[in-house]
Parts: sequence; structure tokens; C-alpha cells
Amino acid sequence: MNKSDTDPDRRARLAPGGAVGVTEPMCRALVDAFYAKVRVDPELGPIFNGAIGDGWEAHLAKLADFWSSVLLMTGRYKGSPMAAHAALPRAEPADFEQWLALFRSTAAEVCPPPAAALFIEKAEMIARSLQFGIAASRGVLPSQPV
Ligand code: HEM
Repeated sequence: MNKSDTDPDRRARLAPGGAVGVTEPMCRALVDAFYAKVRVDPELGPIFNGAIGDGWEAHLAKLADFWSSVLLMTGRYKGSPMAAHAALPRAEPADFEQWLALFRSTAAEVCPPPAAALFIEKAEMIARSLQFGIAASRGVLPSQPV
């Protein structure tokens, strides 16, 4: 990382979220509201609760860091989403559709429209690439174009 990447003013200018009013508290509020729905979803809840167990607080903090890194370029998230998802016992195309449906509705509830649109655009892009990664790790292609 060169010095200019750590300059908060420069980062704020370049980060995609800055232009549409994304903030740190907004990232955290979206994460909290989204995973509250995920945890009680009949399909997604068991997948998440099985993997996360009683580690929800750490997961929520990590996901707030993730979105802050994606949209505000803070670099706080250092993990590997592909490896985490490839290791799940289940993450089918229908699960991704449900994940995205919950994410879209939560973003619309929590964020002003331009910020919601950006969160959703990035989530759709990352979901596509995770699905390709999962399919590749299983040695198959997705059953339909994503
Ligand atoms: C079917 C859809 C999905 C399911 C079932 C799912 C499930 C999970 C689970 C269970 C974990 C925790 C893994 C662990 O701690 O062992 C996790 C982590 C994570 N998920 Fe997802 N996820 C889905 C889609 C997505 C999408 C679309 C994104 C991004 C837009 C995303 C971002 C992340 C990130 C950043 C982590 C943290 C990985 C790490 O440990 O560094 N997930 N996911």
C-alpha cells in the first residue's frame, strides 16, 4: 500500500460509496438488519447458524468491515470470502437468490436509494463471482448463467 492509499481525503474521493453518502454507521446498520433476517430465514438460517454458532457478534463486525472496505476503501477486511464459501456444506443457486432477495429488501429499508443501489450492485457482482468460485471448486459450472 503506498502512502496515498492511506490518505483519508484521497480515499474518500476515490471510494465509490463516498459519492452516494455511504457511511460507516450505514454499513453496520445494514449488516445488523440483514443478518437479523438471515438468522430466522427458513432456508438460510440453518446454513449460517451451523457455520457461525455463537460467533455472531464477530461475524457482524467482520461483515461491517467487509462493506466498509468494498464501498469506502478502508482496507479493514482482510479475509478470503471465496475460501469461506467454498467450504460451506451448502450454498446453491437458490440460496444465493434468497440471499440477494433479503439483501435487496434490507438495503432499500436501511439506506437512501442511491446508496442502496450501490450496495445491491456490489452484492450482485460478488454473489456471481462466489457462485463461479464455488462451482469451480466442485468441478462443475453453475446450472444456469449467473
Ligand atoms: C447463499 C449465499 C450465502 C451464504 C449461504 C453465505 C454464508 C456464509 C457463512 C455461513 C459465512 C461464515 C463462514 C464461517 O465463518 O465459517 C459467510 C461468511 C462471509 N460471507 Fe457469505 N454467504 C452467502 C453469500 C454472500 C455474499 C453474496 C457475500 C458478499 C456480497 C458474502 C460475504 C461474506 C463474507 C465477506 C464473509 C466472511 C468471510 C471470512 O471469514 O473472511 N456472502 N457467508
